[in-house]
Amino acid sequence: MCRDMTGPKAFVVGWPIAHSRSPLIHGTWLKQLGLPGSYEKIAVPPEDFPAFVAGLRAAGFAGGNVTIPHKQTAAALCGKLTATAQRLGAVNTLWFEGDVLVGDNTDGAGFLGALDQEAPDWDKRRRDLAIVLGAGGAARAVADALLTRGFGRLIIANRTLDRADALVRQIRDARCEASGFLGAQAALPRADLLVNTTSAGMLGQPPLDFAVDDLPEHAVVDDIVYVPRVTPLLRAASARGLRTVGGLGMLLHQAAPGFEHWFGMRPKVTPELRAIVEADIAGERR
Ligand SMILES: NC(=O)c1ccc[n+]([C@@H]2O[C@H](COP(=O)([O-])OP(=O)(O)OC[C@H]3O[C@@H](n4cnc5c(N)ncnc54)[C@H](OP(=O)(O)O)[C@@H]3O)[C@@H](O)[C@H]2O)c1
Repeated sequence: MCRDMTGPKAFVVGWPIAHSRSPLIHGTWLKQLGLPGSYEKIAVPPEDFPAFVAGLRAAGFAGGNVTIPHKQTAAALCGKLTATAQRLGAVNTLWFEGDVLVGDNTDGAGFLGALDQEAPDWDKRRRDLAIVLGAGGAARAVADALLTRGFGRLIIANRTLDRADALVRQIRDARCEASGFLGAQAALPRADLLVNTTSAGMLGQPPLDFAVDDLPEHAVVDDIVYVPRVTPLLRAASARGLRTVGGLGMLLHQAAPGFEHWFGMRPKVTPELRAIVEADIAGERR
């Protein structure tokens, strides 16, 4: 835990929570900005989560982050939700406005923040078609962000087609369509952006079985997996000379709004912060 008991207290709650990088990210920002405050990780099983949330004010917390498996329950327990959290039905960031517990979902903003920082003007030339691989919680946030950013068409492609269909029905936006991987492969020549939101390619998982050969030269490839930093998908895209963005930036950018709510200052995603978190991930893999 990063601790300075004179300042605001924040947390990340999940089950399990041992591997969360959030304490390192927020602790680094507190130190770099010279702010008082503390940020701790708290393991809470699902059956105890409502009581945990009910006790936040009394425990003196300014707010915190919520991760798997509590994001949807947290949304239901908030007194107020941002428009994004309402659309997604899941929150990852909590804070108080007076006595009202407010919830936001910053995954989509983190995803866009990483693209904006690491592939400047990625959406300025063309945003006709984006292909999102995967149909889980991360795909929901990424799709929402791309629609908000004004993409003309979105293909959500999943190994299990039923889940892609269900997600498109949930999003309820005529620009969105569901597909299997074969359909997505066929659409590649017209795509401006390809995003992997599946867990394939992650350390310990099989690589993603998806070729990038047919993407046009201006296309950007984003893989939100961040362990390893360079996934086989990103390596294949780089070998073709395409611009690539990895998942670490999303992880760092999604943390910034919460920090500002609790500690009063908007932190920056700097190369120093990136290096600290990368070293921590590399240390765990050794
Ligand atoms: N960078 C960040 O800040 C950030 C934030 C959130 C999540 N993530 C990462 O995003 C990934 C997905 O998270 P999530 O919460 O959306 O998980 P999730 O809800 O469990 O969804 C997992 C998705 O991966 C697909 N999948 C799993 N193995 C596959 C394989 N071998 N081939 C093809 N598809 C496969 C699943 O397809 P089926 O439906 O067919 O099973 C499903 O669409 C994780 O790796 C997570 O670490 C990163």
